[in-house]
Amino acid sequence: MKNLKANELPQVFEREFHARPKIFRAPGRVNLIGEHTDYNDGFVLPSAIGFYAHVAIAPRADEKLILKSTAYDGQFEYDVARLPDKKQDEWADYVVGVAHQLKRAGIPLSGANLLLHSEVPVGSGLSSSAALEVASALALQSLSGKTLPLKQVAKLCQSAENEFVGAHVGIMDQFVSCFGKEGHAVLIDCRSLDFQLVPIPPAVDFVICNTMVKHELSGGEYNERRAQCEEGVRVLSKFYPGIKALRDVSAEQLTKHESDLPAIVYRRCLHVVEENARTLEAVKCFASGDLAKVGMLMRASHESLRDLYQVSCIELDAMVESAHGVAGFIGGRMTGGGFGGCTINLVEHTNSQSFAKAVASRYKAKTGITPDVFVCSAANGAGLEAEHAAV
Ligand code: GLA
Repeated sequence: MKNLKANELPQVFEREFHARPKIFRAPGRVNLIGEHTDYNDGFVLPSAIGFYAHVAIAPRADEKLILKSTAYDGQFEYDVARLPDKKQDEWADYVVGVAHQLKRAGIPLSGANLLLHSEVPVGSGLSSSAALEVASALALQSLSGKTLPLKQVAKLCQSAENEFVGAHVGIMDQFVSCFGKEGHAVLIDCRSLDFQLVPIPPAVDFVICNTMVKHELSGGEYNERRAQCEEGVRVLSKFYPGIKALRDVSAEQLTKHESDLPAIVYRRCLHVVEENARTLEAVKCFASGDLAKVGMLMRASHESLRDLYQVSCIELDAMVESAHGVAGFIGGRMTGGGFGGCTINLVEHTNSQSFAKAVASRYKAKTGITPDVFVCSAANGAGLEAEHAAV
């Protein structure tokens, strides 16, 4: 089933399960700016992109949960009353983790057949896991007759990843997968979960360049960065009791207490404090049409992630450098957790195809790796894709 197209999913589901499914979908995302700020109660500016995870679902007469994927052979079979309480290091973990969280939120689960199909490249930092979680959550709850508010869906998908999969991610990916809007980025206040849609000029494309170096979030580096930020908060809150997260720290407060913090913790905190400011500034620049300044902020963001937060890698740096000076380039940086994955470039629409080719060949010349390059734009968030009623 590997080269399947999403529109073939109903027929495949029918062949596999002899029933007609409802199909839900949720997108991956790209983050324009505001990196490693979400778990510090800060600001992020992602967009959903037109790569979706699709989950087709139909009820079963018994209490079994059967999971199949178009990308892998075989199936996973569970009893809804006795879902495994430990991850199995399988793709099914994302669905099982979400099922646990739905139960906890009072959504009764019943037997169901699920078929998953994802267009989001896995391990590329475009949130394939959040897309799968959100689409699974919408699919599973659809059989219960109850509907949770979308913000709660985003939060419980995050909890599934935190508690079941073991990656202590923030809320950004699940949130924008739920609330993304065509033609817009989403400014998310990761403390209040208020959000604001920020129009992206129609003459600007996203060119996403995959370094092809795999990015693994459940690896320790991400959780270690998070712990370093928490250490910064612990120290700074002794001086400023109102500080609950790095979101509350000003640049002046931080620099004043540089010597009270371990050097590495200071660098991590400085990135977060400045990145929050850059994100809010970028929103203003989008509003005033100052795209050149957006480009400068993206560049500063990348340099900070490379030098202060240390989550870039040789290949990401090479990809970012490959974009500089190419016709149509507005701004670019690594996007997502880091340690591999993709760069995001804002590029003038008229040049985006030639830009994509030029960056791919420059990157290949530097690294010997042929990258995947996608020209895309901001897409809509999660929802019911289709209902294929029995005829
Ligand atoms: C990953 C996480 C997000 C966020 C980014 C870094 O994508 O899933 O919650 O922390 O890294 O900005």
